[in-house]
Amino acid sequence: MRYVASDDFTIRLKRWRTQLLSRIPMGNFILRKLYSVPAPKLELEAFGMKFPSFIGLAAGYDRNGTMIGAMEATGFGFVEIGSITPQPQHSQTKSSLYKLDGDHALLYYSEIESAGVEQVIKNIKHHNKHIIVGCNIAKNSATAPENAAIDYLRLFRPLYQYADYFTVNIACNTAEATYVPRDRDEIMAILTPLFEFRRGQNQYRPILLKISPDLTDEEIDVMTDIMLDTPLDGIVACAGTTGRYGLENSKATMHLLGRIPGALCGEPIKRRALEVVRRIHERAKGTYPIIGCGGISTADDVMAMLEAGATLVQIGTEYIYGGGKSVRDIRAGVNERLRKAEQRAAQSPATESPKNQENND
Ligand SMILES: Cc1cc2nc3c(=O)[nH]c(=O)nc-3n(C[C@H](O)[C@H](O)[C@H](O)COP(=O)(O)O)c2cc1C
Repeated sequence: MRYVASDDFTIRLKRWRTQLLSRIPMGNFILRKLYSVPAPKLELEAFGMKFPSFIGLAAGYDRNGTMIGAMEATGFGFVEIGSITPQPQHSQTKSSLYKLDGDHALLYYSEIESAGVEQVIKNIKHHNKHIIVGCNIAKNSATAPENAAIDYLRLFRPLYQYADYFTVNIACNTAEATYVPRDRDEIMAILTPLFEFRRGQNQYRPILLKISPDLTDEEIDVMTDIMLDTPLDGIVACAGTTGRYGLENSKATMHLLGRIPGALCGEPIKRRALEVVRRIHERAKGTYPIIGCGGISTADDVMAMLEAGATLVQIGTEYIYGGGKSVRDIRAGVNERLRKAEQRAAQSPATESPKNQENND
């Protein structure tokens, strides 16, 4: 039986390598040469912004905004940095990250490790303007849930001029002390001060809510209703799950790991993420943009997310598994599918918009 060791180190090493590449003068040029493919069909306007591609990097991979240039050179159209916490935060619990290869999944257990808002601002101040940068914000673990709203505002205010959009992460369920507000009043207590601050600004920054796939369907409807009847601009669905489903091939590994409380991401959550996106899309009657995230690892997965109702998509686990090569293949594959769908639509004008069609090419 394979010895199970945390993959933390390998993944950190990959991050350092990317950070290093993005700092050397030729680094981004090399990444672009290796991974960037023309994909004009992926350009999209959403939230009043022009996205060079609707395929972005999910939160958790560039927590401190040190790899924005490298992500642009790799081919992402947007990057969600964070989660960012107000104060610097290092995991109090021993953090661990496991690759469950047989199920194309990641299991991670740690508190959010953030350099804190001040440092992140220094990192992103002069960011590359060819990529959209979202700031994913979360409270410090030490902040009591009843004071959460103060933390979110402490992040929102100073970051406002540097972020293109914000994601309010209310799915911080990776460490033992879970914090997943589910109740409308609790969520509005966080969002209302952000809406009020934004009202006084000259520039508009879209605010999205990132939700857990572990919410019940009724709770997802509550989130959708918040989007429908408040100034919330969209939803990111979903974060990782605390459930342990979809792990058919990792039973032995899971047994060796024992009871790890963290979040599971990748292939196992694909079905649930699609369900959640479809549910929000149907309830909102397609009137709001949704960022679909969860288990996307191929061009067909992206097409399925679009078909479920997502406007933009994010890749997380697959980037850890396949790096820039995966991003390149997914971009090329989606571009080709959209091109063909457009061609078909032109031949039969009665068909729907190609971005909402399932494609089985
Ligand atoms: C190692 C790791 C760290 C993550 N950190 C964060 C985070 O800080 N904030 C957040 O909102 N989501 C975080 N996520 C969740 C991802 O953004 C994404 O929602 C989730 O992984 C599902 O997408 P995937 O199946 O493509 O990985 C993290 C995921 C992983 C695997």
